[in-house]
Amino acid sequence: MVSSRALTLNLAGLSALVSISLATPIEHANHFDLRPFSINLSRGVPRMLELIKDTKLPDKEEYPGVGSSAGIGLDVVKSLQREWTVDFDWHKEEAKLNKYHHYTADIENLSIHFIHEKSHDAEAIPLLLNHGWPGSFLEFLPVINNLTQKATTSTGKPISFHVIVPSMPGFAFSSAPPANWTVDDTARVFNTLMTKVLGYETFATFGTDFGAGPAYSLYDNFNSSTRAAHFAFLPFFPLPPDQLAAENITLSKLEQSEEQNFVTWSTTGNAYFSEQATKPNTIGLALQDNPIGQLAWMGEKFISWSDPKAGTAPSVLNHNQILLSTSLYYLTRSFLSSVYVYFQNPNGFKSVYTKAKTDAPLLFSAFQYNVAFWPQALVAKVGNLVMYNNHEFGGHFPGLDNPPALIQDLREIGNYWDRA
Ligand SMILES: *[C@@H]1O[C@H](CO)[C@@H](O)[C@H](O)[C@H]1NC(C)=O
Ligand SMILES: *[C@@H]1O[C@H](CO)[C@@H](O)[C@H](O)[C@H]1NC(C)=O
Ligand SMILES: *[C@@H]1O[C@H](CO)[C@@H](O)[C@H](O)[C@H]1NC(C)=O
Ligand SMILES: *[C@@H]1O[C@H](CO)[C@@H](O)[C@H](O)[C@H]1NC(C)=O
Ligand SMILES: *[C@@H]1O[C@H](CO)[C@@H](O)[C@H](O)[C@H]1NC(C)=O
Ligand SMILES: *[C@@H]1O[C@H](CO)[C@@H](O)[C@H](O)[C@H]1NC(C)=O
Repeated sequence: MVSSRALTLNLAGLSALVSISLATPIEHANHFDLRPFSINLSRGVPRMLELIKDTKLPDKEEYPGVGSSAGIGLDVVKSLQREWTVDFDWHKEEAKLNKYHHYTADIENLSIHFIHEKSHDAEAIPLLLNHGWPGSFLEFLPVINNLTQKATTSTGKPISFHVIVPSMPGFAFSSAPPANWTVDDTARVFNTLMTKVLGYETFATFGTDFGAGPAYSLYDNFNSSTRAAHFAFLPFFPLPPDQLAAENITLSKLEQSEEQNFVTWSTTGNAYFSEQATKPNTIGLALQDNPIGQLAWMGEKFISWSDPKAGTAPSVLNHNQILLSTSLYYLTRSFLSSVYVYFQNPNGFKSVYTKAKTDAPLLFSAFQYNVAFWPQALVAKVGNLVMYNNHEFGGHFPGLDNPPALIQDLREIGNYWDRA
């Protein structure tokens, strides 16, 4: 332990670290070069806008009438192109992003970027939120502040969170990882972030899309620190209908439509997955300096993987959100390293369902328009399932297309959290 005088001096030296309490082991924090971080990507904006304006799209669809079955529509890209240069204001967005407390820490030679918003409640549960692709830390901004507030679970238990949202290695402001870096490596780094850099001995975690990988690895491999896990996606391949039937799993009407979304994704919607898993450099180099190209490649996912009512309350997944997300990828020059997460994790989605080595509770939230579906009986195979909720509004990006439901479900962790 350091003396309180040393702590005071250290804190003075880190004057901007307002959200670090005295209980945080500062000597560890310094060892990891923990620093406040502020976003300033303004240097790249003029070139980005120039490229957007200069991109000449065809006057009309080559094959009118195919609709979204052939991919993102020309009209959609054109309207987003216009909105990007006319309505979208990076500087305004950046100022909003900088209202959160951002930090970087050096862990295993990687600079890891994260948001850390502390609750005023001393009993708050530390909660690590794991984003996916084409997501980023932006996916969770609509839920952060409410999660830090005192609330109650469905059974009346008090609940609040200290919220930590890291950028996965290779995404946004976190360093690109070395070759062959897996989601298990990311989990180890995030466990270090939570326990050693921030001093939280135990914590809860949530994961979606490729973020389900590190979240599940924390749940499975770090069972003394990860004491609850919540998922909207699993790192196990969903089963096609015939295999569900073979497992004697029957589906409700809602579940049948969700299973159909998975069938559609796996038959006509997963080319990007194969490309990124096999030739990431090709698509990476093709789009690295091409904002409209990144918009088409990733915007299609935001649109087709979310609720058809996306953009109407409570969804905040509107065009501005898609442009913000694409701008972040473009301006941080992280598109290429982000798609490598598929290449580096050939076993990122397992086909054999195994149970995690933990007694910690597992919670799951399904959203009707997600592209993959796991009925309750499948989720129960991979952990100590204590809660399974299925929502008729929302899709693949719950923090954006149904934030209140995600907040409510995350708060249920309080019913099962046991500090002892
Ligand atoms: C951002 O960085 C640029 C230099 O690249 C500087 O001119 C500008 O003042 C900075 N903006 C803020 C808000 O710090
Ligand atoms: C970090 O980099 C240094 C210098 O390249 C190397 O010696 C060291 O082994 C690396 N540490 C880790 C944890 O990878
Ligand atoms: C990464 O994996 C590939 C294929 O498994 C292997 O050939 C290569 O040596 C590995 N690279 C590193 C740095 O471990
Ligand atoms: C499914 O039900 C059939 C008939 O009851 C039974 O023979 C079979 O073992 C069951 N399969 C599984 C995976 O439980
Ligand atoms: C954690 O995992 C180990 C095996 O890796 C197991 O022996 C132990 O019982 C687990 N602990 C809990 C609390 O589940
Ligand atoms: C956050 O809490 C405020 C105040 O209770 C509420 O008005 C708002 O709808 C909540 N936001 C979400 C996304 O649930």
